[in-house]
Amino acid sequence: LTSLLSASDLDRRTAVELLDLAEEMATVAGREVKKLPALRGRTVVNLFFEDSTRTRISFEAAAKRLSADVINFAAKGSSVSKGESLQDTAQTLAAMGVDGVVVRHPGSGAPHRLAQAGWLEAPIINAGDGTHEHPTQALLDAFTLRRVLHGEPASGAAGTGADGKDLAGATVMIVGDVLHSRVARSNVRTLHTLGASVVLVAPATLLPWGVESWPCQVRYDLDEAIAEFAPDAVMMLRIQLERMHQAFFPNAREYTRLWGLSAARLHALPADAWVMHPGPMNRGVEISAAAADSPRALVLDQVANGVAVRMATLYHLLTGEDSH
Ligand code: CP
Repeated sequence: LTSLLSASDLDRRTAVELLDLAEEMATVAGREVKKLPALRGRTVVNLFFEDSTRTRISFEAAAKRLSADVINFAAKGSSVSKGESLQDTAQTLAAMGVDGVVVRHPGSGAPHRLAQAGWLEAPIINAGDGTHEHPTQALLDAFTLRRVLHGEPASGAAGTGADGKDLAGATVMIVGDVLHSRVARSNVRTLHTLGASVVLVAPATLLPWGVESWPCQVRYDLDEAIAEFAPDAVMMLRIQLERMHQAFFPNAREYTRLWGLSAARLHALPADAWVMHPGPMNRGVEISAAAADSPRALVLDQVANGVAVRMATLYHLLTGEDSH
């Protein structure tokens, strides 16, 4: 792996190796050793053309825990606002010397353009591009699921009980605004690669054309789907109001009534089913407080695991190693 642009870049073996490496990173981070010298002398640039809380901060934390130098670039306040292009921005960074580039961009395909154009020689990690992909989110979700489904603590230092394992036999339901969700696209691919069965549940107006060809099943009624599939986990997606270019059906109130994870639907799930959300959450819209704050919610574990998964990704891409 030379860059991580898409969940399709990961076959089962590489994905499991990255998850195992993230376990090593989580174990180190959870003990007295808070920092590893693995990337000392390297520089990682966080190139963010779109807002982020979790992804940007966890990439920064991950790079720093590996002793890399970190440069945070936000398009807001940069010369991008004066019209500087992606090419000139990338070449400016290359001229200063960077060893890894983490890029978030509102344009689907921007990280691929960076990688293919050759403006930068450094590995590129897609930290979310438009409605396209968010592969490290899918990896951290898989890491969290692998932990809990193999009886390990959801986050923090764990044993090695999940090492080498995948998600075969698990059923994961992804619910909501699939149309605009890069998280859904990367998760469908990664979960399928790791052997899980994936069910998308959404209003027809929030599903993309071509979804029939994705490696998953599709349902429109959440109550029926919960009864039919008895999922091991439900992943609720954020309604992306900022990407709705016109009034959408259903409106927010209808959406919450029909597709929101209410307290009643939480109760209808199998008693051991896990609740996931990539964040940021619209509380009271796609997820109730009862679900978000329940003991079955993995939302903060997903955030915590993001650091270990991004440490593993940076380490693997910048050193070519798959074990510390
Ligand atoms: N899950 C996620 O990508 O969150 P941020 O937009 O805050 O990075």
